[in-house]
Amino acid sequence: MKDPAAFRREAVAAIRERAPTGALVAASGGIDSTVAGLLAQEALGARCHAVFVDTGLLREGEEARVRALFGAAGLAVTVAPAAERFLRALAGVTDPEEKRRRIGTEFVRLFEEEAARWSVPALVQGTIAPDWIESGGQHRDTIKTHHNVGGLPRDMRLAVVEPLRDLYKDEVRELARHLGVPDPDRQPFPGPGLAVRVHGEVTAAAVALCRRANRAVEEEVEAAVARGEIPRPWQYFAVLLPVRTVGVTGDNRIYGQAVSLRIVDSVDAMTATAATVPAELLRTIAERITRESPGQITRVLFDVTDKPPATIEWE
Ligand code: XMP
Repeated sequence: MKDPAAFRREAVAAIRERAPTGALVAASGGIDSTVAGLLAQEALGARCHAVFVDTGLLREGEEARVRALFGAAGLAVTVAPAAERFLRALAGVTDPEEKRRRIGTEFVRLFEEEAARWSVPALVQGTIAPDWIESGGQHRDTIKTHHNVGGLPRDMRLAVVEPLRDLYKDEVRELARHLGVPDPDRQPFPGPGLAVRVHGEVTAAAVALCRRANRAVEEEVEAAVARGEIPRPWQYFAVLLPVRTVGVTGDNRIYGQAVSLRIVDSVDAMTATAATVPAELLRTIAERITRESPGQITRVLFDVTDKPPATIEWE
């Protein structure tokens, strides 16, 4: 990216040109959609409407985070409650690509409804370069279909505006700093949310387990970062695995599930390395996860695989 101020000027002009009558902004709380939203607001003012979809697949506190982020910039966010709708769309689906496609379709149908309500013909998304490269752009095989790229249905009735599509994460963060977005280095969170961290079928109960384990990982890692024990990793989260595994409480054998910890370092998410984490921190996280989900999670694993050959997410 040239200098952020020049990029900002050009992006604002381009949004005005592409969506002169107004646009919806798909706000997820992530850094990419926040930056895209702020550029859209600068370009369109009151003709810009931010919508946050509560998919039921989010981490704790996500809605409050989005309201705070956009509120600080004077952009009101409409919350679309859609947890039941997404769970229904995902019922019985275990294939990761099919999950992404269904989530993408559901997002678009919701945005179409919201766009009709606000009478705007366009959608501003925070798609960045790795999203479409890994979705099969530039003649590469599809690594996975990012829900906001290849996951879009062909009959979509909205013009899509993607002001950040040529940027990588470090450039978006630079732009975020320039725009005064708080905590621009916070970890990325995938658009399909916890659906791609619940391995196999997505149910309300599985999402709740994954969410609780995820909170433990985030809080414990962030506490260790604050104590200066480790540098902030690129991403740190929990994945709920579908295996049944034996555990013991008192005199009883129980069958619970396993969780894998994924803590990686990266620069642009195109490659990543499993972070070096003190064993004591891993043990603290494992103890907390099993304590907070007694009888349900009986084993915690640590994924030591780099990308490649693995990817950052499990699905
Ligand atoms: P992978 O798992 O492909 O992830 O190594 C690379 C980065 O992208 C995030 N990710 C996604 N983001 N929609 C998104 O918006 C998606 O479908 C998606 N899949 C993965 C992942 O968290 C990592 O930062």
